[in-house]
Amino acid sequence: MTIVSVSACPREDRSRTRKLQSRFEEAVERACEKEGKDVTILRHDLMTMDLRPIGTEELQLREKICDRMDWDTELVRPARELMRADLIVIGAPYWDFSFPSCLKVWVEHMMVRNLTFHYEGDRLIGHLKAKACVYLTTAGGLTEGHDWGWLYIQDVLTMLGVHHMEEVKAEGLDLQGSRWEDIMKTALDTAEKTAGRIAGLL
Ligand SMILES: Cc1cc2nc3c(=O)[nH]c(=O)nc-3n(C[C@H](O)[C@H](O)[C@H](O)COP(=O)(O)O)c2cc1C
Repeated sequence: MTIVSVSACPREDRSRTRKLQSRFEEAVERACEKEGKDVTILRHDLMTMDLRPIGTEELQLREKICDRMDWDTELVRPARELMRADLIVIGAPYWDFSFPSCLKVWVEHMMVRNLTFHYEGDRLIGHLKAKACVYLTTAGGLTEGHDWGWLYIQDVLTMLGVHHMEEVKAEGLDLQGSRWEDIMKTALDTAEKTAGRIAGLL
């Protein structure tokens, strides 16, 4: 059982989102092992991976790689790892109605024609085998239907073939007088419960 865990948390060790993500990871690993499933976690820590936005040069190179299906190259290594995932975990704080830009760059690196998807006429057919994605986020205010990052991730991964998606969110953490520690505690409990349920699907 392989988990690809993507962390887009610029505050690193101070990040509450990362804390939520770690709790989920630990709980899902425990639950899987209880069911006799061995777990491998492949981490995509976007603070250290140094993925570059796909610019002119990268695009030209990648088009060639995709035409030749020459997957033995560093540029598509993260996408190859994603192909192995049974579960995708994404941790990203709510920034500017969405998420930090490094997560968009990660998505650009996952959209590899003939590897993670192919076209049939105008239709895009996804190749991922992951059964689920869990998106963990924290927000300073209330997202109130403006969590475009989560909506975007759902669209992208659905297109790539992942059909079960859940969000675990702690919001209102930075509002005046917020009892943010209580909000986090509730979210951490939810992360644990979600992990138990998700492990049953894998
Ligand atoms: C650059 C930046 C942009 C943010 N944008 C928003 C926003 O649009 N709406 C909001 O409610 N909170 C926003 N926040 C607050 C964060 O969502 C909140 O503090 C979150 O818990 C940070 O997560 P972290 O502890 O994992 O870094 C922003 C914070 C930063 C640093």
